Amino acid sequence: MKILVIGGGGREHAIIKKLRENPRISKIYAMPGNGGIEGEAQCLPGKPVDIKAALAYIQEYGIDFAVVSPDDPLVQGMADSIRASGIPAFGPSAKAARIEGSKVFSKRLMEKYSIPTASCEVFDGFDPALDYIRSQKQYPVVIKADGLALGKGVFIARNEDEAEGALRRIMEERIFGESGNRVVVEEFLEGPEVTVLAFTDSKTIVPLPSSMDHKRAGDGDSGSNTGGMGVIAPNPCYTEETAELCMKTIFLPTIDAMNREGSPFKGCLYFGLMLTGEGPKVIEYNCRFGDPEAQAVLPFLETDLLSIMQAVEEERLAEIEVRCRSGASCCLVLASGGYPEAYGTGFPVTGLENVSQKNTWIFHAGTALKDGIVSSGGRVLGITVFADNLKAAVDGAYREAEKIRFEGMYYRKDIGKKAMEWLYTESM
Ligand code: AMP
Ligand code: GLY
Repeated sequence: MKILVIGGGGREHAIIKKLRENPRISKIYAMPGNGGIEGEAQCLPGKPVDIKAALAYIQEYGIDFAVVSPDDPLVQGMADSIRASGIPAFGPSAKAARIEGSKVFSKRLMEKYSIPTASCEVFDGFDPALDYIRSQKQYPVVIKADGLALGKGVFIARNEDEAEGALRRIMEERIFGESGNRVVVEEFLEGPEVTVLAFTDSKTIVPLPSSMDHKRAGDGDSGSNTGGMGVIAPNPCYTEETAELCMKTIFLPTIDAMNREGSPFKGCLYFGLMLTGEGPKVIEYNCRFGDPEAQAVLPFLETDLLSIMQAVEEERLAEIEVRCRSGASCCLVLASGGYPEAYGTGFPVTGLENVSQKNTWIFHAGTALKDGIVSSGGRVLGITVFADNLKAAVDGAYREAEKIRFEGMYYRKDIGKKAMEWLYTESM
């Protein structure tokens, strides 16, 4: 079989490495891929949102199955177009991808079907939103742009000034363009955060091991929000009891709600959860694997990924067993100095050959292949180590990261620290 994977980050590299374990696959193509993916798939030029280019490649190379991985092509309907051309694909329809593409859609869905989430108000004009914010007594409040915003559309405002500033940036300065036509003003939730990635074919839902992302750039959750600086899995805050509760109150009700709305969801559904004093609540849905979460979670999979993706597409997920190994993983992101703000690129990456071959994966996120591997993005590499327990996984990821160098490279020094503190206090 020939497979086309859309995207070119660490998540796509993780997907491709996993797919390559399947001997039925003769060749993988990636659009656009990256410097590390180049060794494992044929990289084809094109932006991940270029539906026409994807369809042309599918024809030209005789692709049998496509994996649409990032949010924007999904929201823009790439999976629909590929299916319409007669080729099966992994990834939700545009209608189903609204669960991520519009926060207003997802909030209304949760409200209508009583899925626990932060209470909120929706505004489509600056003045009414400002009036509402001025009437707020309790801070912080959370202000979210409705549409996709490269993961930067959420503001946590600690006072009226910050709230007004956020609102101006979204609705007046239009920093996210059309995505800021509407805003959601939402109650601030507290508690440990958990990510759960789940395969679903709209009838059956199969969660993968839970995980914990670290979104801020600096240690101790300081600094700007990023796409994610590191992940550990499983998340020790997410007990078996919580998992059962989430299945009953969140996961199953969500796929049911999507079916009732005429938008059955097929693909990987990302649940961003907050374990509040009142129980687990949804912070956000994404219509795809998380990045870097996928880099920490996919290495758990024992069942062949292509078989799962095909079962999802053919709506027979209930017929296959999705097996995961036990243990723990840590994915540490090596980033370019300055990220998530301005950073330099083109720096040679050295030491990759010294990284252990055992239970260790190097996922390329922002690299290009020139004479050797050079940096080309903000998040450059994800180093994932799998071990028997969390501490060994975290120690392993830090040990391997020390072998790698590029100019300006930085990484957080405390990935997994919170999780280990939690594990330790809970088990006392
Ligand atoms: P998102 O871009 O939706 O992933 O949100 C970014 C981050 O903002 C989340 O990972 C949370 O840490 C935080 N966040 C979003 N919504 C809320 C909320 N209602 N209460 C507290 N924190 C939130
Ligand atoms: N790591 C967060 C996301 O993929 O949206």
